[in-house]
This record gives sequence, structure tokens and C-alpha cells, in this order.
Amino acid sequence: MIMRNAVKKLMPSHLLKLIRPIKYRIIRHDFLRAKHRLQSSIELTDDEKQLLHKVALQVHHSDSMYQPDGALHYLSVGLSASRCIHKAIGSLSNKYPIEEILDFPCGYGRVLRFLRAMFPASHITAAEIDSNALNFCRQTFSVTTLLSKTNLGELSHLQRFDLIWCGSLFTHIDESSAITLLRFFQDHLTERGLCVFTTHGQQSIEWIQSSKMTYGLTEDGQRKIVQEFQTAGYGYADYPNQSGYGISAVSHDRMVELAKATGGWAETLFIEHGWDNHQDVYAFAVQMPNQGVQATR
Ligand SMILES: C[S@@+](CC[C@H](N)C(=O)[O-])C[C@H]1O[C@@H](n2cnc3c(N)ncnc32)[C@H](O)[C@@H]1O
Repeated sequence: MIMRNAVKKLMPSHLLKLIRPIKYRIIRHDFLRAKHRLQSSIELTDDEKQLLHKVALQVHHSDSMYQPDGALHYLSVGLSASRCIHKAIGSLSNKYPIEEILDFPCGYGRVLRFLRAMFPASHITAAEIDSNALNFCRQTFSVTTLLSKTNLGELSHLQRFDLIWCGSLFTHIDESSAITLLRFFQDHLTERGLCVFTTHGQQSIEWIQSSKMTYGLTEDGQRKIVQEFQTAGYGYADYPNQSGYGISAVSHDRMVELAKATGGWAETLFIEHGWDNHQDVYAFAVQMPNQGVQATR
């Protein structure tokens, strides 16, 4: 650390700017190995293998979605998101070119790298509250960035999108913030637009109850989220020592109720724990669904 700070002091800022992108461009061998393993799996279609071939493998050292020795899981989660997005697009009655895409929140690009490979000609906007993550995504995936606000009600943006992907943000906010986020998404869809988002659902509640996964919540927090989910359909508890950011879980009925109250769109797809066999996946579109909601359980 002392050494790094000394280098920073000695090096002119224009040279530092050159070095940072080079650091981001390093491709790690564990990711290369994971990609080859997935590409030789019989569970992937030929299209998915080709998609993986095009996916960028640069991963930032601050990306908390990457766990040690977790390259295979990291790429599998991105691939699983790409499947959900494909299914959501397939749930629309009218196919249309997807020109403008929003990834909100992009993190350090776990899914964004797949979106970039799936839609090479589209303009992608990546939104985050974390400016370091945004810098990395802008430099690595050729996207425009949007710095979000902690208070989602203060967000304003002029553009509209054909496709919005929101992987794991509803999972961290309370019901009133979820309503604000739904309104923001609905307001920012084009007249043909599609919004695909994920939540914790019934399975996550069962995991908390059985202590299989407690999401970093205190015992009080665990009790609160389960009790609220069971009584009101939307449960939320702050992370320890944090306010306004934690873990939520919502029933399908309650989520549909909240989204319907926003108005102007209809549910076209629901896949229970469809993202990485964990989070529930919803699609809402301004245009009408194909043949009613395709619910997969
Ligand atoms: C669980 S991560 C998911 C990141 C990414 N979608 C992925 O799947 O890798 C949640 C992300 O939400 C971001 N976040 C939290 N509050 C936010 C806000 N108000 N606006 C935008 N992003 C936010 C966090 O910085 C974090 O990167």
C-alpha cells in the first residue's frame, strides 16, 4: 500500500490514467478456464457457447459478486441472466429491434458483459451508485454510464429504453423504494419497451427459515423479513449497522400488485427462482403479452 501510494505521488496524472485501463484489461486464468469448462458442457446450447466466446473476461478486483475460486459461478450467473432475458423477449407478441438498453444496477458488469455480447450493435447505458464500478464498465464494455442516487426518488434521466435489466436491486430495498424504482423503470420504457427484473421470493424465505442462507442479516432481521413476507407479501430488513439498504423478499402476488399500481405495462413472464436457481424473474412490457403470462415454476 505504502509502495502504491509512493508510485502515485511520483507518477504524473496523465501516465496514471494510462496505467489504470491496462490493469483492467488483464484476463485472469481462472476465468479463461471457467469459460472453457462451460463451453465443453453438454448443458449449453451451441448459441450459448458462441455467446460465451464473445463475452469479455476482464474482472475488477473490487467486484464483490466474484467470490474466491468463483469464476465458474460468476460466468454461470451471467449466462443464466442471458437465458432469462431471451425468454422475456420471447414472451412479447411483437418482436422489435432492441436499440437502447439500460442495465440498472450494473455492478462491475457480471451481466453487462453478456448484454454487450448479446446486443453488439445496441447502445447500452449502465447505471450504478458506485462510481468506481461505472468507470470500469465504461472502459471495459463500451457503454454510457449513469450515476444513480441513493434516494431513488431523486433520480432523473431523459432517455427511454427498449430493454431494462435490473438484476438484484429490488432484493436490497424496502417496499416504498421498490415502488419508486418500478415507477422509474415504467417511465423510462419506450412504447415497445420491456423491463426484466429479479427479486427474492418464497425460496429465499425458506432458506432463511432453515438457515441455509441468511443473507448477512441478524436474527432480528431474519425474523422481521419472514414475518412481513408472511403477513404483507413484502418483507425487508436492513443489513446490520446500515439504514435503507438490506435484504427484501416479495411474493409473486404482491409484486404484481405493486407493478400494476404503477400502470402502463403488463406482466409477460414470471420464472420462480429462475435466475441462477435463486432469484425470481419478472418481465413487464408496455406492449401486450404473447398468450398471457408464461409462468414457469
Ligand atoms: C447485488 S449487486 C448486483 C450488481 C449487478 N446487477 C450484478 O448482478 O452483478 C447490487 C448493486 O446495486 C448497487 N446499488 C445499490 N443502491 C443503488 C442505487 N440506489 N442505485 C443504483 N445502484 C445501486 C450496488 O452498488 C451494487 O453494485
